[in-house]
Amino acid sequence: MNMTSVNVTAANFVAAQFNSVDKVFESRGQRFEVLRGFDLTVREGEFLAVVGPSGSGKSTLLNLLSGLDDASAGTVVCNGRIVDGINTHVGYITQQDNLLPWLTVQQNISISLEIRGVAPAERADRVAAMIAKVGLKGFEHHHPSKLSGGMRKRAMLARTLVYDPQIILMDEPFGPLDAQLKVVLQAELLKLWSATGKTVVFVTHDIVEAITLADRVVVLSHRPSRIKLEEHITIGRPREVHDVRFTPGFEEHYRRLWAAIEIHGAGGTHQ
Ligand SMILES: Nc1ncnc2c1ncn2[C@@H]1O[C@H](COP(=O)(O)OP(=O)(O)OP(=O)(O)O)[C@@H](O)[C@H]1O
Ligand SMILES: [Mg+2]
Repeated sequence: MNMTSVNVTAANFVAAQFNSVDKVFESRGQRFEVLRGFDLTVREGEFLAVVGPSGSGKSTLLNLLSGLDDASAGTVVCNGRIVDGINTHVGYITQQDNLLPWLTVQQNISISLEIRGVAPAERADRVAAMIAKVGLKGFEHHHPSKLSGGMRKRAMLARTLVYDPQIILMDEPFGPLDAQLKVVLQAELLKLWSATGKTVVFVTHDIVEAITLADRVVVLSHRPSRIKLEEHITIGRPREVHDVRFTPGFEEHYRRLWAAIEIHGAGGTHQ
């Protein structure tokens, strides 16, 4: 075995990596330093949750990994290659609802495959299977405006999952949903994740959600962001999403994460 093959093997366990990444936004003469020397490694098959205060750069991280935005310094690597344009290895469910309003649910999902050149017959099969999986059967021909918030989220999920990306980036996908629907979709996501072995990077404000879903939770500090805490979730799998909060170990995770998240005006630690 030579050096090259050893390196390739090692790289196979890493899905994505931020190496000393700086991100500075300049607008109207003002500099917003969001990331400074930021390092993070996402392992293949890992479910990683990212939490942190508003404006700490969570969406920025996903934008950099998806190639929608570029780093001011440092490198972002995905599947062993530096991201320097749109990253086709990831599926990105953005914070904003971005279904196309003039297309039906079916067309919105199908377009992901169309762009990737999948033949019409295969497209129809895959779209139908995905619609069934996310529980949107019967709503194929509805336009987004005729769906509830939760159904729109499911449609966005389906549109990304249908093309089977290796890495799924989700930015507060269940944020505005009611508690019950949230649990249903979290359970669906965990089932899907464990069945497929995908890598998930999941941004949320909700500590309970982060502990419930993730293998590891990273807490970002206020900008310029650094990782303030890295918490490995020791709760076993499979997990029942509505029971995780009653599981031994949950409370300890919760306390540590809660203590690490800085809240403006809460009279927390001063540095
Ligand atoms: N295109 C941009 N131009 C200028 N500033 C930006 C731009 N995008 C983000 N920012 C700034 O960068 C910082 C981080 O933004 P980001 O959207 O990553 O935060 P976030 O952690 O996702 O916040 P939230 O929890 O509110 O979604 C914010 O201060 C924001 O104002
Ligand atoms: Mg955000």
